[in-house]
Amino acid sequence: MKSSSSLKPRDGFTTGLGVIAATLGSAIGLGNIWKFPSLTGTNGGAAFLILYVACTLIVGLPVMISELAVGRRARANAVTSYGKLGPGQPWWLIGAAGVLAAFLILAFYTEVAAWVFAYIFKAATGGLATNDPVVTAQAFNGLITSPVQSLVWQWIVLAFISVIIIAGVSKGIERMTKRLMPALFVLLLIVIVRSLTLPGAGAGLAFLFKPDFSKVTAATVLAAMGLSFFKLSVGMGTMTTYGSYFRADQDIPGTAIRVMLGDVLVSILAGIAIFPAVFAFGFKPDAGPSLLFITIPAVFNSMPLGGAFMVLFFILAAIAATGAMLSLLEVPVAFLNERLGWSRTVATIGTSLLLALVGSTAALSSSLLADTKLFGKTFFDLFDFASSNLLLPVGGLFICLFAGWRWGAAEMRRELTNSGALTNARIVNLFIGIVKFVTPVLVFIVLLNGLGVIKL
Ligand code: TRP
Repeated sequence: MKSSSSLKPRDGFTTGLGVIAATLGSAIGLGNIWKFPSLTGTNGGAAFLILYVACTLIVGLPVMISELAVGRRARANAVTSYGKLGPGQPWWLIGAAGVLAAFLILAFYTEVAAWVFAYIFKAATGGLATNDPVVTAQAFNGLITSPVQSLVWQWIVLAFISVIIIAGVSKGIERMTKRLMPALFVLLLIVIVRSLTLPGAGAGLAFLFKPDFSKVTAATVLAAMGLSFFKLSVGMGTMTTYGSYFRADQDIPGTAIRVMLGDVLVSILAGIAIFPAVFAFGFKPDAGPSLLFITIPAVFNSMPLGGAFMVLFFILAAIAATGAMLSLLEVPVAFLNERLGWSRTVATIGTSLLLALVGSTAALSSSLLADTKLFGKTFFDLFDFASSNLLLPVGGLFICLFAGWRWGAAEMRRELTNSGALTNARIVNLFIGIVKFVTPVLVFIVLLNGLGVIKL
């Protein structure tokens, strides 16, 4: 490590509330409002929801706890953390793969955020003032098929998150994420009330809560597991990096469980807000990624003062996305800052410029590059699929092997109990057992089965 970063005390989260806000801010994002409803819609509803919650408990949460423990012990960026706690072996590759994954995820994530940001202005200027889903569909297609709009909005998003990241961990990330989370809850509740009171809303609830397992395939299980990684921001070093900013007295398992519960709750609330409306308007639930951008505006325009609520809703969706993007961008920035000695400002600007380049392939996936396919997918779809269904599970598998076996149960126990200061020995032992024996085996099987390598 370069000496420049060891002269000053390392930046970090300052309060317990700040830790929760930042970590929850990372977990809650477009994953809840955009990815979860679209995947649930295309994978048969309730059956998918059940699989997703199960994966969150047996896969996502244990990986999250492992990452936070590793990060807090090492007090370093993702690459250095695994290198430091597993010296003499190439465990640092987990962190290196994480930095790569951060790029791929941000490449498409910043584009979806770009649509959200653009929608704030479209909504504010009356461009979406219709309760006719056909018209909102036209507005959405107009946006995503315009190369200029797609690129410029993505650059605006990149500039916005860069400014916050440059401000630092406590003054940027923590301060920003402590705000508007409660407001997001309030707005979701308002949409839910509207959605549930639409005639024909019951069909949407049945879809979300009455399981039909006949739709479940190996690919469905892999998608549910991929979502559980994506939702909790685990498998690529985000939580390792955030763990390195945790206070020494923070209860890691308790924090992780709270964040997991808050995150699952927001996903389910988003489902309740969206599916009844989808069914009430006679839409098919399997529209995929466009659900948020076509259905939600129509829902808002069906209620009094809907235009104003819609502006507020997309502002809040943008802020949810912001907390998540900050945690993604922090991974390469912390690495460049601590390993190569770049200043935070240079590291952030450098990363963002490279992202603008890589991300443009995702931004143009509905316009200039719509016919450019790799493995049968556009860049946008490829980045999305490869990160959730490949990189995060593989990363999560190695994180479990590292934490449970290489770094080891004894060290993990020390970190998760704050050297015995917390009285959580039973739950800690349970999680360590899961990390060692259950999660890696499960991830391995689901991964190979989902990719068609083995057939169960
Ligand atoms: N969890 C965020 C969401 O649901 C996305 C996210 C942030 C993420 N950081 C991550 C996903 C790290 C994977 C890895 O929107």
